[in-house]
Amino acid sequence: MTEVTERRNFYGRIRGKTLRASQKTYLAEGLEPLSLPDVTREANPSRAAIDLAFTGGRPLWLEIGFGGGEHLVHMADRHRDRFLLGCEPFVNGIAMLLGKVREADLDNLAIHPGDVRDLFDVLPDGAAEKAFLNYPDPWPKARHHRRRFVTPGYLAGLARVMAKGGEFRVATDIPDYVRQTREEVPAAGFDLVSDGAEPWSDWLSTRYEQKALREGRPPHYLTFRKR
Ligand SMILES: C[S@@+](CC[C@H](N)C(=O)[O-])C[C@H]1O[C@@H](n2cnc3c(N)ncnc32)[C@H](O)[C@@H]1O
Repeated sequence: MTEVTERRNFYGRIRGKTLRASQKTYLAEGLEPLSLPDVTREANPSRAAIDLAFTGGRPLWLEIGFGGGEHLVHMADRHRDRFLLGCEPFVNGIAMLLGKVREADLDNLAIHPGDVRDLFDVLPDGAAEKAFLNYPDPWPKARHHRRRFVTPGYLAGLARVMAKGGEFRVATDIPDYVRQTREEVPAAGFDLVSDGAEPWSDWLSTRYEQKALREGRPPHYLTFRKR
């Protein structure tokens, strides 16, 4: 378990453009009911493992950095017999997700409006059957590659919370991210299952994928199985 006193650097954006009035309403009304309790350090300073009763016995799927939430909501809608847990620290993305959730009728979705490492602290061992990492921040400069998700610190947390045989999916448009993913993920306890230009049968293209396609960068999809 991570030491409670550890301070973590987060280099991404937490806030963006001014929120629209409707988005402020979504946050005021929708965030708390959808957020898992006992995940933050303030709420759970001893970092005790959380109870998975909220899933209603459904296998847990985890989305890391859900952005605007389109893939997360799509997966929850498509897989009603699974429980989707998404995390995202960017408040504008969270507001977008909340807008989508209002239009959907879902009882199998929760979020942590923050860093995925908070979840890695408190999820029980082997809790997740599946995990999604869609278009992670690319950090293109070589000196920033260690900020990428596919580095040993993040991956050790993921490996601990993944069930044996669980599936980890990575989508990216950055060739050097593919390279690092191929190197680092197997070293963290996963076997490569597939690697190429063909998306998964239940894939929903995300905002970042659409941007990559518009700008001429082809998507790449990798699937790993936890050993
Ligand atoms: C390039 S965006 C992709 C968003 C979305 N998955 C998509 O495909 O459109 C990467 C996202 O990862 C989020 N992110 C970065 N570091 C994170 C962390 N430590 N925990 C959770 N989310 C993180 C960012 O806030 C950002 O929204």
